[in-house]
Amino acid sequence: MGDTRPASHFHAGNIDGAAVARLVAALDSQDAADGVRRLRAWAHEAVAARPGERALDVGCGTGSQTQALAAAVTPDGDALGIEPNPGLRTVAEQRAAAAGSTARFADGDASALPLADASVDVVWCERVLQHLAEPQRAVDEFARVLRPGGRVVLLDTDWATTILHPGDPATVAALTSGALAAAASPYAGRLLLGQLTAAGLVIDDRGSQALLQDHTTVTWPLIRMLAESAVRRELITGDQRDRLYADLTEAAERGALHMSVTMFAVAAHRPR
Ligand SMILES: C[S@@+](CC[C@H](N)C(=O)[O-])C[C@H]1O[C@@H](n2cnc3c(N)ncnc32)[C@H](O)[C@@H]1O
Repeated sequence: MGDTRPASHFHAGNIDGAAVARLVAALDSQDAADGVRRLRAWAHEAVAARPGERALDVGCGTGSQTQALAAAVTPDGDALGIEPNPGLRTVAEQRAAAAGSTARFADGDASALPLADASVDVVWCERVLQHLAEPQRAVDEFARVLRPGGRVVLLDTDWATTILHPGDPATVAALTSGALAAAASPYAGRLLLGQLTAAGLVIDDRGSQALLQDHTTVTWPLIRMLAESAVRRELITGDQRDRLYADLTEAAERGALHMSVTMFAVAAHRPR
């Protein structure tokens, strides 16, 4: 799925070595997911970073998209990844150096970017707003740093679109409510359009991808974690949990298991 861990694991203070290694592993597996790759391809085309431009990747994680933006703005442009987690920032710096990328990285917060007004041509922000208690503040910041005519693309997960099949619908709803409770802004995907408009930006295009799992890729630890949490919160009984495991296992054995969550992306620009 888009984030195979509950969203709160990505808060910037999660910096011990083992925690960072888990975040890197999760981000690497998401980099490889078909839905993420397709939505990113759409988003790069929509935002169209050009040679010589200044691009910003807010909450860049391991910096894979900062590197992609750096390649687009080369040779005389600049791509800067903002990443408040020092462990992830170090990984991003090491990977960019190893790849010979000109991408640069800096500490910072999406809601208080260390950049002047109207100083950036392109803002990219992927799966960060779901972690913020006040995502509109961040989107207002993106509008502030964009120069007139500058473009922004936001990509985010909408956790309420989670589908887990088969399973009794009430049991599945109890599980997905755990994922909703874990994200600061669980409906991030559906909010993007309104947030960009509220920030005074003009909508250019919208895209989406369902991130799909089947019996070969399903994240059993995530299902078990959500199910155990639902039992602890007394949303489902132990019997309901066991029935769900049996249903899912049987479906996996006959290749009929479906798990998905939908990501949305919106491209916009600052009026001249
Ligand atoms: C799910 S990861 C996404 C990383 C990257 N954008 C990607 O799509 O691969 C969320 C990222 O947001 C960062 N983050 C969390 N709080 C943030 C904040 N207040 N400002 C900027 N980034 C933040 C995390 O450290 C993490 O790198």
